[in-house]
Amino acid sequence: MAITGIKGFNDILPNEVEKWHHIESAARRVFELYGFSEIRIPVLEKTELFSRSIGDATDIVEKEMYSFTDKGENRVTMRPEGTAGVMRSFIEHKLYAGDQVSKLYYLGPMFRYERPQKGRYRQFHQIGVELVGVDDPMADAQVLTMLQHFFAELGLHEPTLQINSLGCPECRPSYRQKLRDFLLERLERLCDDCKRRYENNPLRALDCKAAGCREATVDAPSVLDNLCSGCADHFEKTQNYLRVNGTPYEINARMVRGLDYYTRTTFELVTGLLGAQSAVAAGGRYDSLIEQLGGPSLPGIGFAMGVERVVLLLNQDDFRKSPDLFIAFLGEAARKEAFRLMCALQQEGISVEIDYEGKSLKSQMRRADKFNSRFTLILGEDELRKGTASLKDMDKGVQVDVPLVPEKIVSMVQSA
Ligand code: HAM
Repeated sequence: MAITGIKGFNDILPNEVEKWHHIESAARRVFELYGFSEIRIPVLEKTELFSRSIGDATDIVEKEMYSFTDKGENRVTMRPEGTAGVMRSFIEHKLYAGDQVSKLYYLGPMFRYERPQKGRYRQFHQIGVELVGVDDPMADAQVLTMLQHFFAELGLHEPTLQINSLGCPECRPSYRQKLRDFLLERLERLCDDCKRRYENNPLRALDCKAAGCREATVDAPSVLDNLCSGCADHFEKTQNYLRVNGTPYEINARMVRGLDYYTRTTFELVTGLLGAQSAVAAGGRYDSLIEQLGGPSLPGIGFAMGVERVVLLLNQDDFRKSPDLFIAFLGEAARKEAFRLMCALQQEGISVEIDYEGKSLKSQMRRADKFNSRFTLILGEDELRKGTASLKDMDKGVQVDVPLVPEKIVSMVQSA
């Protein structure tokens, strides 16, 4: 029996990969425009990095990590996200030493043992950015604007930007207590997960999808009414900046995020087109994380998008790739000439397809149709004797004789 792949670990097949290239090159183009540089970090990190940053009481650390003990008895984890590793590297290599502001982006596979469904996989890919060293709300607004710019670059205008503030170590503990007091009387109506999280992570009840939790928290105290003056001011200024440059957004005071390192601004780019997996990108500010990981006291903000989810939003028809030219030939002498021309044209940057078996002209033309090439070059024995071939422009339906000189064919194809 043939061996199949592992559930939740997907192959990205050739007919899909064009979309991936498109997304990756748009990300590089847009992020570099805003001064971000790429950083590449390993897939495997010490488990402690994730428990210390993402938080022990989160779903990711509690039940979703691919962790194991390696042959040297070290506890290691395949990264479930990029921020922790990027900050570990930032601290380890003192990237803050040169300039107080660092702008980094990364792309690559992440691993979470989640229940696979459309838009949710066990190996998935993120493209993320991190802006470190600025606590001014201008940084928040710039990162959000860049995220919107990236999606607009892909022609995707549907996802909505939702923002919230989760407060800081000064105001969040009292809000958590207030929420706990509120939930205590409603504990019986919460789902088992939220009951379990009541002590360590009560905020999760606010964005739980279970009907009981939704009903029980309808009039829960809002985090936004319980921010300290510093956090309230930061949130207000972030919105002012967004208004200044016309970046559309909505406030979602129930957005919680599944990672513990967030402070102040958090956000998600949500879509109604992917069923239950509504977030195509998400992120926020993490002003205590770098210090918590043993680095200097520097603030940061960033986001990551799920590339598979972005791929699902793009239209497959826009990404069909077809060769510039298909060469059809009749007879052995023409086959050799077809081969010579094909190699010469490819070296000149023209993409060429051919029917290697050289079946009947009719079947070669069927193959040309399938490739949907812009031009077809037909090489018959008569033409060969005259030193010419017929070049057909498939869009215009026009056919002309061309000499068997690669440079001539190149210029005709390129000038079309
Ligand atoms: P996150 O919300 O856990 O945040 O993930 C970011 C995005 O990754 C999600 O919005 C979603 O599009 C995608 N994603 C997450 N899990 C899966 C999955 N199982 N399958 C497919 N896509 C998925 C973070 O990871 C933070 N590190 C973001 C960040 C960067 N915050 C600050 N800087």
